[in-house]
Amino acid sequence: MTYDIHKVFEISEQITRLGSVDEVVEGLSRLLKRTVKSRWAAVYLIDKEQRNFLPARISGIPRNQTHLFQNLALNPGEIPFLKKMLDKKQHLIITGSKRLAFLTPELGKQLQHLTLMVLPMVVRNQVIGAVVVSRSTAYPPFSEKEIAVVRETVAHSALAISHIRLFDESLDMAVEMGRRIDIILTLDEINKAISSSLSPTTIIETAMEHIERIIQCEFVAVLSEEKGELTVLAARGKDITVPPLIVPGKAISGSSLAQEVLGTWKSSYVPTLSAIPNPGPVDEALALAGIQSAMAIPLISKEAIRGVLLLGDTTAGQFGKEDAFTIEKIAGQMAVALENARHFQEMRSLFISTVSSLANAIDAKSPWTKGHSERVMEISATIARELGLPDEHVERVRLCGLLHDIGKIGIIEALLEKPALLSEDEFPPMKLHPEKGVAILSPIEQLHDVLPGILNHHERIDGTGYPRGIKGDGIPLDARIVAVADSFDAMVSERPYKAALTPYQAIRELEQEAGTHYDARVVACFCDHLRRKLGPEH
Ligand SMILES: [Fe+2]
Repeated sequence: MTYDIHKVFEISEQITRLGSVDEVVEGLSRLLKRTVKSRWAAVYLIDKEQRNFLPARISGIPRNQTHLFQNLALNPGEIPFLKKMLDKKQHLIITGSKRLAFLTPELGKQLQHLTLMVLPMVVRNQVIGAVVVSRSTAYPPFSEKEIAVVRETVAHSALAISHIRLFDESLDMAVEMGRRIDIILTLDEINKAISSSLSPTTIIETAMEHIERIIQCEFVAVLSEEKGELTVLAARGKDITVPPLIVPGKAISGSSLAQEVLGTWKSSYVPTLSAIPNPGPVDEALALAGIQSAMAIPLISKEAIRGVLLLGDTTAGQFGKEDAFTIEKIAGQMAVALENARHFQEMRSLFISTVSSLANAIDAKSPWTKGHSERVMEISATIARELGLPDEHVERVRLCGLLHDIGKIGIIEALLEKPALLSEDEFPPMKLHPEKGVAILSPIEQLHDVLPGILNHHERIDGTGYPRGIKGDGIPLDARIVAVADSFDAMVSERPYKAALTPYQAIRELEQEAGTHYDARVVACFCDHLRRKLGPEH
């Protein structure tokens, strides 16, 4: 015996405190090499999938011979002594190379004059690996005591490896669980954000933001389907320039990953775009912009494909099955929300066209006011845009302009058709039209936000208007805009009792009454716009 037993146990104890499987395997092979008089000591670990023993570490072998072991996986099905060891879970002593016929002739030769001690690494009755300790046949065989020490050391190490693996697996599991919880929370957040909006733009923007949060991607595009054709609805890139072929409004032509998904209705991903032979123009443009990984997910709702979600990243092989699974959930929510928004928009436009035909009918009662509501609608929208209001607000002001006089439906026709200014007696009933308009439209929930604009479009900044006589900023902005648009159209239109003003005369009239009748900022903004549009007055 060439070792101090206490030293062996001390080192063995140290091994069990190591942090990684590699360290334990290395410590074990070194310890075995040093403690018993051995030529070399090798540690094998079982590969769970292939049921093979794979070489993990070998100590004591000359460098020029390591290749003999390095790539040699040991298959218990082919090696009877390994099979026996696995079944009995006990050590074996093998002398000479007679029983090692499976080895390469070169290795067989190396082992010819060696005695091998082969020990299973057993944890909870499961073999997780094996240890082979070799000794020259010139020395005495392994003693019972030596075998006992080696067995003890191997058992300790096997336990250490098992603990490390268990710890690593738990850690991986915890990280994976955390990731999944994050995905579920994000999906829930997306669901809430998407379902609470009926604006396709908001739905798409929200979904795009969340997708970028949930998986690493530098390019996101939403493509809509119509009659088998794909059109870009939205596209954005992070640190890459979106190719001109994939900007909103562009139709996607030629073969592409997105087009393929449109046909299969199944998610698809490409690990390296630049490696596709003969790519279509869109995939080629993305590859040129630096995108390597691409993934396309179908947007399916009510058993129909509504479009495709296209993701890209500059790193190759970025997307996998799991990403597709997660993004499919978002795509499903998006498709349903977009479909709902489309229905809502259809119903809204159907409703607006019905209401505008009513407004037109009122205008048509007199040849002098024909087309007035539609013109006020356009002018109001122009002013709103010039004031820099957001799209949704511009849309609301546009509706206010169209419907501002809808209350005239309830006014005696004779008054509307009268080809002269109204008399003192006739004016009060006519002044009721803003309130009548509100009464007509208030049952329609979707139009509640246009009611203040309609109710107050005859109010004046100085408080002398009707129906309530409110003043200044107390008058809703929508109403202040419609008031200017309404007056301008009336000024430049011919009436039986007055000639039409030129646009420049109307500008001067508006400016004269800015701050008293009209909102000064609205007038200034509109008149600036008109002057730019009309050019100098001749
Ligand atoms: Fe009016």
